[in-house]
Amino acid sequence: MVATLVDDLLADPTALPYLSLVATVRDRIVGHVLFTAVTLQPRTEHAPASILAPLAVHPDFQNRRIGGMLIAEGLNRLRERGVRLVFVLGGPGYYQRHGFSPAGKLGYAAPHPIPPEYTDAWMVQALSPGTVRHTPARVQCARTLADPKHWLA
Ligand SMILES: CC(C)(COP(=O)(O)OP(=O)(O)OC[C@H]1O[C@@H](n2cnc3c(N)ncnc32)[C@H](O)[C@@H]1OP(=O)(O)O)[C@@H](O)C(=O)NCCC(=O)NCCS
Repeated sequence: MVATLVDDLLADPTALPYLSLVATVRDRIVGHVLFTAVTLQPRTEHAPASILAPLAVHPDFQNRRIGGMLIAEGLNRLRERGVRLVFVLGGPGYYQRHGFSPAGKLGYAAPHPIPPEYTDAWMVQALSPGTVRHTPARVQCARTLADPKHWLA
């Protein structure tokens, strides 16, 4: 299912611009992360933004910091491109280690309502100071990712 999501996102023009990174060990692909573009509604005063989805590391290579390195490298490259906000829906314990914090409290609504028990799974990270303005906004993601099946619905 993750591989299908990646294929669909890479073919989705509404996901552009995207950033796709792989991790390799002895020429074998063992991990992958994809960041795709999102917009914020209303558009005024909001910075270029992306969403991290999906991230996957081969089971034989998990817990070797590969996931963390993919996230860190991706965030560095997005920062260089001028992206200022990165969203993610995922395990809070994992992503908080990598600089993300709950997005709802900062006024960023997910594309679909997040069930109360998963509120903290919807997270954001600012890549440059002063980006978060506490102005309520709804995140609109690529058509492929907007399917409710990806949103704990
Ligand atoms: C989640 C995943 C991407 C992490 O990649 P990884 O390369 O194994 O992770 P790292 O080596 O960077 O980090 C490992 C650490 O994160 C912890 N961790 C892993 N998944 C976690 C989670 N969901 N919540 C909290 N901590 C988590 C590990 O226990 C480990 O902790 P330690 O450093 O104290 O030992 C990988 O396990 C994976 O592909 N899982 C299946 C797909 C998936 O669930 N993707 C969505 C991620 S929310």
